[in-house]
Order: sequence, then C-alpha cells, then structure tokens
Amino acid sequence: MLWDLHCRLQKRLINNNLQVKKILLTGVNGQVGHALSTKLIQHNVIALTRAQLDLTKLDDIRRVVGEIKPDIIINPAGYTAVDQAESAPELCYAVNTTAVRVLAEEAAKINAGLIHFSTDYVFAGDKQNAYTEDDLVDPINVYGKSKLAGEKAILSVGLPHIILRSSWIYSSYGNNFFKTILRLAQTQESLQIVADQRGAPSSSHCIADGVVRLLNNWQPNQQAQSGVYHFTNIGETTWHGFACEILNQYNSLQAQRNWPALKTKLENIVAVTSADYPRAAHRPANSRLDNHKVKQQFNIELPSWQQGLQQVMQTLAL
Ligand SMILES: NC(=O)c1ccc[n+]([C@@H]2O[C@H](COP(=O)([O-])OP(=O)(O)OC[C@H]3O[C@@H](n4cnc5c(N)ncnc54)[C@H](OP(=O)(O)O)[C@@H]3O)[C@@H](O)[C@H]2O)c1
Repeated sequence: MLWDLHCRLQKRLINNNLQVKKILLTGVNGQVGHALSTKLIQHNVIALTRAQLDLTKLDDIRRVVGEIKPDIIINPAGYTAVDQAESAPELCYAVNTTAVRVLAEEAAKINAGLIHFSTDYVFAGDKQNAYTEDDLVDPINVYGKSKLAGEKAILSVGLPHIILRSSWIYSSYGNNFFKTILRLAQTQESLQIVADQRGAPSSSHCIADGVVRLLNNWQPNQQAQSGVYHFTNIGETTWHGFACEILNQYNSLQAQRNWPALKTKLENIVAVTSADYPRAAHRPANSRLDNHKVKQQFNIELPSWQQGLQQVMQTLAL
C-alpha cells in the first residue's frame, strides 16, 4: 500500500519534471532540521539526529557521507547556544566551523552540493538599514565568529553551495523565544522585553518551505548560483514588538481554540534595553537582513513575519 503510494508520487514528480534528489539532512531534532524533515517529502531524505551523526566526530562525518553518497547535504545542525558559546568556544567552533569544513570537503569529493545555514550575527549591527550580502562582516560574539568561519570554510573548499543567513528563528517545535513568551505569559503579570534590537523573526516552517522551492530552482552545476543569501521572513520588529504580536495573535484565537487565558496583559509587556538585561554574549542592535538577492536569483520571497507567526499559531498544540 505504502509502496504503491510512493510509486504514484514518484511518477507524478517525474511527470511534473521535478527531480528527486538524495539528500543527507543533519540536526533533524533542531527547529529547521525538523521542519525540513516534514517538508522534503518529494526527495529521498536521509535525516540524521546528533546521536546518529555527531558532527564533532570528523571520521564519522567522512564515513557517513562516503556511505550515503548524497546529491546534496543540507546542514541546519549547529551549536546555537549563543551565551554558552562565550565560555565553550572550542565546542562551538568544532560544530560551527571544523565540522562544516569537513562536510564541505566530503561533499566536494563526491560532487555533491551543500546547503548550509548561517546567521545575522556575522554582522556587528551598527549599520542604519538592512544588511546586504555585500556588507562588511564583523561579528561581536563567539557564536557569530564561529558561524562566519564556517562560511569561509565552505568558500575555501569551493564546491557548489548555498549559504542561507537567517535570523531570530522560532517554531512550535523546540525551545525558542515564541514558546518562552507563551510559557511565561501563562504565569506572570508582566514581562520585560528588550526593545533596542531590530530584526525579522523567522519561522522554521517558512524557511523549510523556502528551501523546498530553492531545491527545485537550484542547479548546482551553475557556479553563479553558489553563494551567500539572506533568507528571513519579510519585515522587521524588535523582540518587544514580536512578544506583543505573539500575545495579540494568541488572544485572538484563545477562546475559539479553548487555550488557557494568559495572565500577562498586552499593556504589561514592558520595553527594556539590552543594558537592562545583560547577557554573556553581546547581540547586534541591527539584525535586519535584505532579502533581495534570493528573490532575484531564485524568485523566492518568504512571507511577512506576521504571516509566518500566524502559520505557527495554527500548529500550536497546548
Ligand atoms: N535559532 C536562531 O535564532 C538562528 C538564527 C540564525 C541562524 N541560525 C542558524 O540556523 C541553523 C538552524 O537553527 P535552529 O534554530 O534550527 O537550531 P536548533 O534548533 O538549535 O538546532 C540545532 C541542531 O543542531 C544539533 N547539533 C548540535 N550539536 C551537534 C553536533 N555536535 N552534532 C550533530 N548535531 C548537533 C542539535 O542537536 P540536539 O537536538 O541533539 O541538540 C539540534 O538538532 C543553525 O545553523 C543556526 O546556527 C539560527
């Protein structure tokens, strides 16, 4: 029965001229990895958790890539604990830089392409408007430096690649700002949220939808398509603005969905500064990324961040 369904799907894909690719997907328990594993259904995906492929074990990377021989490696795995990275730089660089270099080297050996995820934190955040891919990189924390070194490692290997820089990723899956706000708002009268950092909250679901389209449009043998692309939901806000919109959208669905009422009222989300809320790692004040390049090259534009949030709200199970 399942095989029959699989055959019919493959036939439809061939009729629609969509190419089925063999994809090695890392970090499948992360926000983006999980979303990709549910959306790449037209392809033959080998999705691996950290337990199945620990990226700090370089010989395991070499063995797994050599055995699977994918057409494309997609690497959303990363050391993403931004504050902890300040006191654990070795592990952070091992996952975000060294492992990325080895993934790229192994991909190059078998003529595979690499789609890798990077971050707005490669920038210092002192530009007035949105950063383009041509702007000067100058990370201000260990995590950002390790991700930038990962980008450079890919470029130095010189294989067909797409590096997607995203920002402020959240999802109904995993741990993130969106879920933290909803959890705290159930028990606290008021919340203090930073209002002097600007960026685009980006849903892992929208990112995964975008990658599915990218795979259909990317021809790895066209060298000009390789490069760095900014890839976020459209628009901008602050963490404070994002928190307000989360409560706003939650409240509009709450009664109809039978969700518990929130204790925090919208007017009790208090705007504070980064200085009021010191953390181990500095964050860029401006995290806005200009997404024109990916639209121009691949005709892909992710929805607005508010629309992205609406989609995530639909998948929220309380
Ligand atoms: N989150 C953001 O706001 C944000 C913003 C911009 C860019 N990015 C980048 O976008 C990508 C995806 O982010 P995300 O939010 O989906 O991250 P995430 O939810 O933190 O997931 C990261 C994944 O990497 C895995 N991982 C960590 N160390 C590993 C290792 N040694 N070997 C194998 N896997 C390992 C984790 O495994 P476990 O599940 O076992 O922990 C997890 O599944 C990352 O490259 C990140 O740097 C993230």
